[in-house]
Amino acid sequence: MTTVIAIGRYDDWDAGPMREAYDLHPADGPDALAALPEEVRTRAKGLLFKGHSPLGGEHMDALPALGIVANYGVGYDAIDVEAARARGVRVSNTPGVLSDDVADLAVAMGIALTRDMVRGAEWVRSGAWGREGNLPLARKFWGGRAGVLGLGRIGREIADRLAAFKMEIHYHSRSEKETPGWTRHADPKGLAEAVDWLFVALVGGAETEGLVSAEVLDALGEDGVVVNISRGSVIDEEALAAALEAGRIRGAALDVFRGEPEVDPRLAGSERVLPLPHIGSATVETRRAMGALQRENLDAFLAGRELPTPVV
Ligand code: 8YV
Repeated sequence: MTTVIAIGRYDDWDAGPMREAYDLHPADGPDALAALPEEVRTRAKGLLFKGHSPLGGEHMDALPALGIVANYGVGYDAIDVEAARARGVRVSNTPGVLSDDVADLAVAMGIALTRDMVRGAEWVRSGAWGREGNLPLARKFWGGRAGVLGLGRIGREIADRLAAFKMEIHYHSRSEKETPGWTRHADPKGLAEAVDWLFVALVGGAETEGLVSAEVLDALGEDGVVVNISRGSVIDEEALAAALEAGRIRGAALDVFRGEPEVDPRLAGSERVLPLPHIGSATVETRRAMGALQRENLDAFLAGRELPTPVV
């Protein structure tokens, strides 16, 4: 059996097939690789990678026979892809299988925030409905002006759903996309100026770091809402907390944070924020599909076949 290292916690439906197929060795995270027994480190051909701790060239160097890092997730910003390329190490990810779930959550977060659903549930549970009467009126979702920042696979699924909510769709993407008449904007600020809803669906990493800046938030304006299902790094959280505190934007629905699972208390505790614990792809169906695709990539590599979903 081929020696493979697995980083991250896996559900039984993944762990079982992995143990059957490979000489499997778990590691707590990238920094634990160097401490693995030498005969494991030197034999390992594959690394099954799950999580968001940075995996760099120095970690890859601890595994001299490494041929592939198979990532569990579509976003691979934690992996130093250039370091992998330089060492001839392949990298794969799990695109496509999670787009619908993540898009569902983005729309649900927008609706839950603006229709005050979390407070409504608490209103019923606490008996406030009987004592105090109706919940104060909320704001509508359908028919708004929606901007999608990053019209990749997930952004596209979000936009398609928003169109069904009779929204006017705007987007910013590096390249013009074929759309049913949606409006493209040259930069994030121009997009924010044109909309009330900003759905962030960018990749993470250095190129998108802080792209949702103070300037973009001000352009969104006091009736604006940000929904982020991509990476916390894409938003300047200091600027977001300040804009929320000052009422310069109306709200934020956030599934991802810088430094998660630690969350800035100004965001987690704000009445204007709907915070969620990075659950975009967290359904049984999708997580099964992600695990299967991760292993398909590893198996393809080990068999000398083309990778189904390569990054490099
Ligand atoms: C994570 C994600 O992979 O796919 C991504 O990019 O962020 C998630 O689906 C998941 O949290 C497991 O780490």
